[in-house]
Formats: sequence, structure tokens, C-alpha cells
Amino acid sequence: VPAPSMIKNSPARIVQNEVGSPEQKNLQIRPEEILKNIGPEMDLLEKFIIHDIDTDVELLNTVAHHILLAGGKRLRPALVLLASSLFESIGESPLRVAQVVEYLHTATLLHDDVVDGAETRRAQKAARQIWGNEASVLSGDYLLSKAFHMLTTLRNLELLQIMSRTTTLMAEGEILQLTREIGSEDEEVYLRIIYLKTACLFGSAAQAGAVLAKAPPELSEALKRYGEALGMAFQIVDDALDYVESPKTGKNHGTDLMERKMTLPLIHLIHNCKADEKSFLLDLIKEKQIGSEQLKEVTQMILRYESIEYTLGRAGDYIASALQETEPLPQGPARDSLEKLAHYVLSRSH
Ligand code: IPE
Ligand code: IPE
Ligand code: MG
Ligand code: MG
Repeated sequence: VPAPSMIKNSPARIVQNEVGSPEQKNLQIRPEEILKNIGPEMDLLEKFIIHDIDTDVELLNTVAHHILLAGGKRLRPALVLLASSLFESIGESPLRVAQVVEYLHTATLLHDDVVDGAETRRAQKAARQIWGNEASVLSGDYLLSKAFHMLTTLRNLELLQIMSRTTTLMAEGEILQLTREIGSEDEEVYLRIIYLKTACLFGSAAQAGAVLAKAPPELSEALKRYGEALGMAFQIVDDALDYVESPKTGKNHGTDLMERKMTLPLIHLIHNCKADEKSFLLDLIKEKQIGSEQLKEVTQMILRYESIEYTLGRAGDYIASALQETEPLPQGPARDSLEKLAHYVLSRSH
């Protein structure tokens, strides 16, 4: 595995990107650019996503439109399409599975924002802030059921197994996070949680695309591992970005600390700071009110102990593994896009 610093968008560069000059920011790769070779399919997917959500129940329509039209990055469905297009041109089935994957992801966001008490999502008010927790949970349930119903119409048991296993694991991940001991600084537990809540779906999306295209099993397994490693890095970067002030994430800065969530930057900080600082942090997380003053103090410590650099370094390791998994894949524009997506995940600022 190459050292993270060997990767084009090394962690050091990302930190610079985030706080760096406008020119550096402009160097960032955009997902739309990377997905240009499947542009028409992505456009079609967008039409499917919006069209099929219509129901006679007005509130469901309103909530579903609100979140689905808010401009998600569509990374998970793109993985389905790219994986499939490695082996054959994209037909109706991968498009439908991509749609299903985005519905599943969106359902988990509606639920997650209730659990986390989030105020914003996709750069606008979270659905729960407008229509309440009840409507948000029920609309999430609707999207989840809708997704599985659509999947049954493909009559592909293997895909049903892949996706239902994944949603089960995702629910386990969210519960594990919820019930984890506050202040626990165990990195292994953190990694397990993010595998379940995020990496698993990335893996299944890539695997599903390959399975649909009847790829050789060793290649659909490689794609699954690629997706999982990408998803691990994606969540780790997301957790780093939470401590970096940026208007572009569409989420509020510092919410993980406010929610007393033990993410990698904080875990690294607790492992590396002085004893008195550690007791200050644990006391804060377990007992105290956390306001903007406290957030500022912790953010400064995170800077001082280079916890963001460490965190992005770990993400870099996962990206290196993801890139390794692309090696046996057929060469061509789809594989190029998968590689570029890996670099993008490491360099993204939103
Ligand atoms: C948000 O995922 C949830 C995490 C795993 C951090 P995305 O950042 O992919 O969300 P959208 O779909 O682009 O809004
Ligand atoms: C992402 O979890 C949601 C799921 C993967 C289900 P987080 O709570 O860490 O992510 P954001 O910050 O709300 O997007
Ligand atoms: Mg959340
Ligand atoms: Mg959450």
C-alpha cells in the first residue's frame, strides 16, 4: 500500500485546500466532471428519481421532493452505474438499482437527521425542521419500502440479498453509534460504526452494478472492496470536515462535538493530548454544556495536535486500498472514473 503522501491529493494538500488560497480551491475535482462519461445515464437517473416518487399522499410528496431535489451528490448510484459500465453498456436494470440505492441512502438521511437532531441537510433546512420528526421518520420509511418494492420487480434474488443485508447492517451501525459509551475513545469501535453506517452501502452499490452486468465473481468482490474502502474514507473525511469551518458542506460546523459523537479527530486528540487536557475533554463530553466557546477551544486543540492531518492520513490509507482494488478491473473510462472518484473523496470540501 503506497503511503498516503504518495497519492495525488495527499492529506497535507487537502488541509491546505480547505484553508488555502482560492487558486488551490479551484484545483479541486468536481464529481460532475468525473462522471461526464456517464452523463446521459446520470440525467436519466435524475428523471427516474423524481418521477417515481409521486404518491397521492401530499405530505410524502412534499417531503420526498424537498430532500430529493436538494442536490445530493448521487455518489452511491454513480457507483452502481460505473461498476456496471465496466462490463457492458448501461441498460434499464442498473439504472433502476441506482435509483433504489439513492432512495435507500435518502431514507437513512431522513432518519439520521431525526436521531442527530440536525438542522440542515443538503444546504437547506432538514425535513424535520420544517415538517417535524414524525413526518421525517415516516417519509424515510416510505422511501425505504418503495426502494425494496422496486427492487423486487427486477426478480433478482442476489441483489435483494445484497441490499437487504446492507440496510440491516446500516441500522445496526446507527444503533451502535447511539448506544456507544459517551467519551469512548476506542478507534476500533469507531471504524466498525462507520463500516456499518456508511462503507457497507458504498460497497454494495459497486458490487450490485457488477453483479447486474454478470461480471466474474472475483471482480464483483474487488468492486465491493473498492466501494467499502471508498466509503470508509468518505465518512472519515466527512468527520474531519465537521471540524473545518466551510460554508460548502451544507451542514453546520462542529455538530459532531455538540452531539458528543466520538469521531476520529476527537479520538486522535484524546489519545495524544496531555493528561490535564484529556480530563478537560472527557469532562466536557460527559458532563458539560457544549456551546460555541467550547467548540472553539476543542477546534484549536485539534489544530494544535494535528488531528485533522492524522484523520485525513487514515482516509488516505483507505483510498490507497480502494485504488489497489481497481487494478484487476477492465481498463477504460469507467475504471478511470472510479480512480478519479477515489481522489475526489480525499480532496472534497463538501
Ligand atoms: C452524507 O452522505 C452522509 C454520510 C455518509 C456522511 P453524502 O455526503 O453522500 O450526502 P449527499 O447525498 O451528497 O447529500
Ligand atoms: C451519516 O451519518 C448518515 C448515515 C450514514 C446513515 P452522520 O450522522 O455521521 O452524517 P451527517 O453528518 O449527518 O451527514
Ligand atoms: Mg447525522
Ligand atoms: Mg448520524
